[in-house]
Amino acid sequence: MDLTELNTRGWMLVDGISSQADILELGKALGSPVRTPNGVLVKEIRRVPRNEAPPGSQSAIYGAGPFPLHTDTVFWPLPVRYVILRGYGDTRRPTTVKSFSELVRNCDTQFHVCARDSVWLVRAGSKSFYCSMQFRHNDSHGWRYDADLMTPANYAALHVDKVLRPLVTSEVDESITWSGDKAVVFSNWTALHGRGPQPSDEGIRVIERLYVR
Ligand SMILES: [Fe+2]
Repeated sequence: MDLTELNTRGWMLVDGISSQADILELGKALGSPVRTPNGVLVKEIRRVPRNEAPPGSQSAIYGAGPFPLHTDTVFWPLPVRYVILRGYGDTRRPTTVKSFSELVRNCDTQFHVCARDSVWLVRAGSKSFYCSMQFRHNDSHGWRYDADLMTPANYAALHVDKVLRPLVTSEVDESITWSGDKAVVFSNWTALHGRGPQPSDEGIRVIERLYVR
């Protein structure tokens, strides 16, 4: 598999993925698929009404509206490496995507110094921990940011949060419109993703998701 696009842009589309078995095979080609706490590998995600959503979840916060750009699993000591998504059903609502480098392209030196020095408190269930937003693992460099789960814990983080919040909620020009047998692979360390605005009379939209370590 040619991973150039994934490694440079932070995400890539893969054709010919039309089942959970295909998603799993793709995941195994990238690394080690991770089971959810319920024991499944490929999780099916459907929109949950706000009043039925777990407290603090994106559906509880944003209801049927768009989700801002975020990193998945910021509450893991090392966020998951890759996320594979495939959408079907009412696919009029896109999935948004943007690389960190693209998102902060116009940010000044102060922002980048603060990003390096920032300390955050991450909400992780009943436990919480402090972390930086940038990390190194082996030879790879990564970012984590989730405006809802990460609280600034020093002045540098306060500045970064003030700059990033409007950027992750503003309109994202890059988005994936689901069709046919298409999947997307994100590097969760270098790209952020979100959910686009709700179309009128939205039907059932299913997103299949696999985490890969
Ligand atoms: Fe997500």
